Amino acid sequence: MGFLEEIERRRTFGIISHPDAGKTTLTEKLLLFGGAIQEAGAVKSNKIKKGAASDFMEIERQRGISVATSVLAFEYKGKKINILDTPGHKDFAEDTFRTLTAVDSVIVVIDVAKGVEEQTEKLVKVCRMRNIPMMVFINKLDREGKDAFGLLDEIEQKLGLSVVPLSWPIGIGSELRGIYNIWEKNVNLFSGHKKQAVEKTVEIKNIEDSKLDDLIGESFAEELREELDLVNGVYPDYNYDEYLKGKLQPVFFGSALNNFGVRELLDAFIEIAPTPQPKNSEERLVDSKESKFTGFVFKIHANMDPKHRDRLAFIKIVSGIFKRNTPYLHVRNDKKMKFSSPNAFFADKKEIVDESFPGDIVGLHDTGNFKIGDTLTEGEKLHFKGIPAFSPEHFRYINNADPMKSKQLSKGIDQLMDEGVAQLFTLDLNGRKVIGTVGALQYEVIQYRLEHEYTAKCTYEPIQVHKACWVEAEDEFSAEFKEFKRVKHRYMAKDKLGQLVFLADSPFTIQMTQQKFPTVKLHFTSEWND
Ligand code: G4P
Repeated sequence: MGFLEEIERRRTFGIISHPDAGKTTLTEKLLLFGGAIQEAGAVKSNKIKKGAASDFMEIERQRGISVATSVLAFEYKGKKINILDTPGHKDFAEDTFRTLTAVDSVIVVIDVAKGVEEQTEKLVKVCRMRNIPMMVFINKLDREGKDAFGLLDEIEQKLGLSVVPLSWPIGIGSELRGIYNIWEKNVNLFSGHKKQAVEKTVEIKNIEDSKLDDLIGESFAEELREELDLVNGVYPDYNYDEYLKGKLQPVFFGSALNNFGVRELLDAFIEIAPTPQPKNSEERLVDSKESKFTGFVFKIHANMDPKHRDRLAFIKIVSGIFKRNTPYLHVRNDKKMKFSSPNAFFADKKEIVDESFPGDIVGLHDTGNFKIGDTLTEGEKLHFKGIPAFSPEHFRYINNADPMKSKQLSKGIDQLMDEGVAQLFTLDLNGRKVIGTVGALQYEVIQYRLEHEYTAKCTYEPIQVHKACWVEAEDEFSAEFKEFKRVKHRYMAKDKLGQLVFLADSPFTIQMTQQKFPTVKLHFTSEWND
């Protein structure tokens, strides 16, 4: 197969949802269709169970699963599908944000009874900022839930999406009769609770056809006709270009647990979901069809075995062919590196591969050379954009609790920050280190891992910080900027890349600072020109 055909057949995407909406179940059913696994239950949930905050074995177990499910690849109808796993737990939201920089599209799973939930809102917002093409799967139709029109309204309002239903439910919960597939013009009958992919699909080209009444009964058929009439009137027509631009989102209904409506979703997905997309770098737009290899690190995973310090860096291939044992430029280090055992990921295993194509993810063994966001090329000095750090929600001073182990502590902190476990800010005033995290759970993870992997001990101390604000000065030499730094010198810090950050202690401080120093801009992410 030629290079262009290889690109053409790739679909790299992520599934996002609020925990418990059915992401793991849907992933599993997609893998069953691809023949990548043989039975339900094969995909382990990487959920952190309730009460796990103090259960470190649970965290370690979760880390083990999360490396195994980081990328799940399978073939379906000639397409190579790469699912990038995104943790649902809110304390690991930043991991998910970073993974979203490596996907070409997204499927959003929504629980029909619960509707739009908090974590879905946050994640969809990030996808919208980046115009990522999205499809919506409304799950758990076998349960009593919200009315379809009401739910679509809620999705439009809360998520700011512009939806186009491509399938429509016939009844719901105990009354569920099936779904009408607007995309393929057929009825898929629901025949009770089956976990295997057995389906009864009947073609109904014309919705007025009396065959429909025979299939689902007169009253359901009438209701369906009325509802589809309304669907036609209310929602815009499906438009491929608008979907690709992230301006319009096709919606499918089903029940992942019963493997119902999943095939419809997958068939439409492989047809319309984008092939590997071009990616912006600071220097230029890089197209996937360019012959020279480029890629970037979006995730780093530490070895589970504390005796082996090596890590796995996950690279998304943006353009060209990544080849084993070939020297590539690590742009930030300005150093050539080659990789003798790049891993490719499949649903049930990882394997050393000779070649990988745009859209694919390779896992490279790393002894501490990579940071998240690093670019690899054949020689060009490119820096891929779009892996910003978001302001953490929690902040604490980190102190060394064992003076004999200060080297180990700083190495451990450095490496955990490279992995993206949390963010480090160093105060200009006294060099003290502040750790910022998305969730409180990370502090325990860091303490535990420092002790077990680096034999270092730490303690934390509270610090009153509301938000980390990355500072942009209109004129770095202006008197105003100098004055800003003088007045706020106790709150000025550097992030891990040496960028200037103002650690603001309250929303009020931010507001006052902006009023007082209008030429100094405060940003809540480390990249603001993306
Ligand atoms: P997540 O990855 O998004 O967190 O959700 P997951 O797939 O683990 O699903 C959460 C729960 O919802 C699971 O039940 C799962 O079986 C159930 N579920 C998923 N899809 C459907 C569906 O279409 N219909 C119904 N009725 N339930 C569904 P659980 O009891 O929490 O876990 P388990 O014991 O079944 O594994």
